[in-house]
Amino acid sequence: MTQQDGACDAPEALVGASAPGSRWSDLIETDRVHRQLYTDSAVFDEELVKVFGGESWVYLAHESQLPEANSFLSVRMGLRPVIVIRDKNGEDLHAVFNRCAHRAATVCREESGIAKSFQCPYHGWTFRNTGELVGVPWARGYDDLDKSKMGLTTVPRVESYRGFIFGTMNQDAPSVADWLGNAKPWLDYWIDRAPRGAVSVNAAAYRMGYRGNWKLAFDNAGDGYHPSFSHRSLLEMASRMGDSKDMSYFGKTPDDGPMKVYSLGNGHSVIDQRPVYDGPGSFWNNQRPQPGRESFEEAIRAEHGDDADRLLDLAIGAQINLSIFPNLLVIGNQIQVIEPMAVDRTQLTWHATTIGDVPDAVNTMRMRSQEDFPSFGEPDDQANFEEAQRGLAAPEAEWIYMNRGLGVADWQSTDESGVVVTAVTDEIHMRSYYDEWQRRMGETN
Ligand code: FES
Ligand code: FE
Repeated sequence: MTQQDGACDAPEALVGASAPGSRWSDLIETDRVHRQLYTDSAVFDEELVKVFGGESWVYLAHESQLPEANSFLSVRMGLRPVIVIRDKNGEDLHAVFNRCAHRAATVCREESGIAKSFQCPYHGWTFRNTGELVGVPWARGYDDLDKSKMGLTTVPRVESYRGFIFGTMNQDAPSVADWLGNAKPWLDYWIDRAPRGAVSVNAAAYRMGYRGNWKLAFDNAGDGYHPSFSHRSLLEMASRMGDSKDMSYFGKTPDDGPMKVYSLGNGHSVIDQRPVYDGPGSFWNNQRPQPGRESFEEAIRAEHGDDADRLLDLAIGAQINLSIFPNLLVIGNQIQVIEPMAVDRTQLTWHATTIGDVPDAVNTMRMRSQEDFPSFGEPDDQANFEEAQRGLAAPEAEWIYMNRGLGVADWQSTDESGVVVTAVTDEIHMRSYYDEWQRRMGETN
């Protein structure tokens, strides 16, 4: 792409400070945000404290990754190293900072496992998995050590919504269900596609890193404007070799099509691709080519007769892209986690999922579907993230625009719960998550 948005082209009527008087009003306007939000380390450091763990919830893990009593998983909450743990009773969940109370070394160096306690490899202090300090080597060397005050720091609240575990540093945060708000029915739809809602993350993660700010991934997650340009080779291949609707849909203007984006509040948004499809079996029928596709379909149809269309559709993604601010993306059948590493460095991790109560072959074919986009589509997106960060190095060109759809009156409608529905190419997802970003970053100090 060589065409550039002119920095001076924004219609004057659309430019105006949001939240007048806020400390961010110079950097966030109704229709654009300043490059500094993507390049300034001071902003990044503050985001790690306030967006990733301050007032509200951050996605940590899926319950299926903690299958039994004393299971643990090493994750990050912003940059904080955190261990999520299932209690010894096998039910409750909690999280502690993976940070020794002595001289700060991580106490757990494994990604996952089962452990009743963690012994810090540095000087051997031992902590129960609840965080209590229970052992200090050669304790006579301490004149007055109060072990009860030297435990691992705990994440004040950890809560799960139907398997999705979130943590917050705010003891008084609303419940996760309340905070998900209008995103909840979309997550429910995604979970309920699986028989009995049994979704499992039990495959190795697919990790990718890019040299760019974490928000570039969030900007893109709800973006229905880019596919026909950024993913053209994939879309054309899909149309050439299979029955995919991708190119026929995105190749023309998607502005007036049935695919929509929903602004759900609290920074969450979703792209709904389902209206492009038409009834049972159509997710399957319109999928891009997959290895083993024909023999799989033949076997499912032969063995499952009337139930075949449902099973075939379950091998394909849910046809929604749900973005839960700030770090959880539910894409197709997959969970993607955004992990900020530095102001210009991010890790993206895809977790494939399997589901219960279906023939093994359905889960095998789900893996083929789930390899598709990360292999052939995500590299296009990550190239854009890195090229956007490179473009952001020009200090004199200050603004990033998010004004597509703003003021286009016939695109948008609002339902009774305040959800705004609009054309899939509307940049409303950016405008709404920046509202939430500002709220989390606070207006003072
Ligand atoms: Fe953990 Fe010293 S840093 S025991
Ligand atoms: Fe993309």
